[in-house]
Amino acid sequence: MFVKKIRLKNYRGYDELELSFDQGINILSGDNAQGKTNLLEAVYYCSSGRSHRTTKDKECIYLGREEALIKITFQKSAGREEQIEIHLKQSGKKSLAINGYPARRINDLFGRLHVVLFSPEDLSLIKRGPAERRKFIDMEICQVDPVYLYDLQQYYKVLRQRNQLLKDASKDRNYPTYAEKIQAVKETLFAWDAQLVSYGVKVMKRREEFVSHLQEYTSKIHQTISHKTEEMKLIYQNFVPMEKAAFQEILEKEIEQDLRYGMTSSGPQHDDLVILINGTDVRKYGSQGQQRTAALSLKLSELSMMKEEIGEAPVLLLDDVMSELDENRQKQLTEYVKDHQTILTCTGVEDSIRLLPVGAHFHVKAGKVTEVKDE
Ligand SMILES: Nc1ncnc2c1ncn2[C@@H]1O[C@H](COP(=O)(O)OP(=O)(O)O)[C@@H](O)[C@H]1O
Ligand SMILES: [Mg+2]
Repeated sequence: MFVKKIRLKNYRGYDELELSFDQGINILSGDNAQGKTNLLEAVYYCSSGRSHRTTKDKECIYLGREEALIKITFQKSAGREEQIEIHLKQSGKKSLAINGYPARRINDLFGRLHVVLFSPEDLSLIKRGPAERRKFIDMEICQVDPVYLYDLQQYYKVLRQRNQLLKDASKDRNYPTYAEKIQAVKETLFAWDAQLVSYGVKVMKRREEFVSHLQEYTSKIHQTISHKTEEMKLIYQNFVPMEKAAFQEILEKEIEQDLRYGMTSSGPQHDDLVILINGTDVRKYGSQGQQRTAALSLKLSELSMMKEEIGEAPVLLLDDVMSELDENRQKQLTEYVKDHQTILTCTGVEDSIRLLPVGAHFHVKAGKVTEVKDE
């Protein structure tokens, strides 16, 4: 799969941009704060309907302008050219057209343009909190499974409503006794909980399936990267049972606690991904180097797995990661780069990049992109 062209208008620091990409390796070089990540973000936006950096679409619109546009033309290996067009408006509205036809929901985007984005933050995925690892899992599944996206959104919708009810009830002073309050809350939550449990179990099962599938890749890839010195294992960590009745029972048991805190204590909103190296939790006991290598293995596994699931190589977006890796890890990564259309950003074109079979090299400066020829 490859991106042929991108057009931006009023996107981040880009006033107007039209750029054609090479099918192989594309380098975007330039000083800091010139617009390299902005360009990758726009490509990513077309694959997932959101930015990887912000949940506020407004931030993506050129300051002071009314509307931003991203238009991307891409092609699957055995297919026709396809087009995605996204308009982001100051009012918060966003509209979407796929191959020239307006699409109603942003979710219609999923499963069209497949990308894997790798940024320096991913290298600290292991050090960071569980929310980051859940996001990693969720974003991956969503790209290949629209049903999961729906279940996940429904789960969080019901969870928000349940939490709101709990919060309101915790402040409500109109009940004569505490026991009556609990009883009333129980009755109200009954209907919500049936839904919460139903979507929650679906979400957990899919996450577990994803992690165990990913593990097959990780184990092999990490063997290679660590020169057979380390065994890496992924464990999906859920804190409530993946079974409706048992999950429901926990909710019922914790109702007083939930009421006290004004929020739901247990459920897949607390899930985590545990990474073991030679049997120990690398997050707690691993060295910085081990954690980064594990993160690289995880990212490369994601890439291989997506390639297999969609039946072709996704587009690889590498944001400033080369300079973050040592020579050995750079080499491992570049092995993968060769099989994908890659868009790689860097401040300086170092040896590790110069040695790659580069298809096109662009220089990014203050929201303007120019092709660098004849180096
Ligand atoms: N909404 C916006 N309007 C105008 N400029 C923006 C907007 N968002 C970000 N920028 C500009 O984009 C630049 C950062 O671009 P970025 O792609 O992150 O840099 P880098 O080249 O280091 O990856 C900053 O100079 C910032 O001022
Ligand atoms: Mg950047």
